Amino acid sequence: MQGLILAGGLATRLRPLTLVTNKHLLPVYNKPMIYYSMEAMQKAGVKEVLLTTSGESVAQFANLLKSGEEFGLHLYYAVQQNPKGGIPDAMMLAEELTKNESLMVILGDNIFNFNLRKVVEEFETVKEGAVIFGYRVKDNQHQYGIVETDKDGRVLSIEEKPQHPKSDIAQTGIYIYDHNVFDYIRTLRPSPRGELEVTDLNNIYLQKKNLRCHVIDWWIDAGTSYDELLKANILAEKMVREGKL
Ligand code: DAU
Repeated sequence: MQGLILAGGLATRLRPLTLVTNKHLLPVYNKPMIYYSMEAMQKAGVKEVLLTTSGESVAQFANLLKSGEEFGLHLYYAVQQNPKGGIPDAMMLAEELTKNESLMVILGDNIFNFNLRKVVEEFETVKEGAVIFGYRVKDNQHQYGIVETDKDGRVLSIEEKPQHPKSDIAQTGIYIYDHNVFDYIRTLRPSPRGELEVTDLNNIYLQKKNLRCHVIDWWIDAGTSYDELLKANILAEKMVREGKL
């Protein structure tokens, strides 16, 4: 399985913090935000990882992360021409690296301690469909993709930032896809907010009855607001102190 970490976007919700600094380089407790995704890839056992970001930030990531060796990874870099093209737009940059393998995607502003290794190993035995990861949020459901499931945990629907959420399960920024993903992305069209949407992509797998969802215990999207960034810092300190991160 190949890995992809997304570190682009404009991060307008975090301005002025992000006017001259890429969001994923901001500190979360004792390290830059991007370290958490790098460590998650390492723990998952994925060796080759592509990091996508904007042209103006790519040199900063290369200065910081270099070849990825410190994390036990072979790290490659690619520039996403349109920084707001959307998550699937950035994913297309991984097509060449992925070839006929599976792909694990992590959004670089997501922080979690779930070890993905077992799910990766299970996926590699079938190499088919897609896996998403959910997290039960107490509030602000309208900020996330929302996953509705039946009583057995099967996904019924996923809606991007719905006004009337059908559940409290947020779609996190961790995804595993089979090799068909690039063909499916080619069929996507921009949403009303002008981006290709990961939720539209995941809905293709859902329609094909080939989507699985794992609900995880702890997760935070540090990139949605100042409050979430602050919360991420406080929670990361607590988790590190308790030896859980
Ligand atoms: O974090 C989970 C949420 O991420 C999901 O619940 C949503 O379904 C999903 O659409 C996404 O929503 P966000 O509004 O949080 O996405 P955001 O624009 O913040 O971008 C997520 C990450 O992807 C962030 O690390 C920046 C990066 N990104 C984003 C875009 C739009 C890119 O690298 N390129 C892009 O074009």
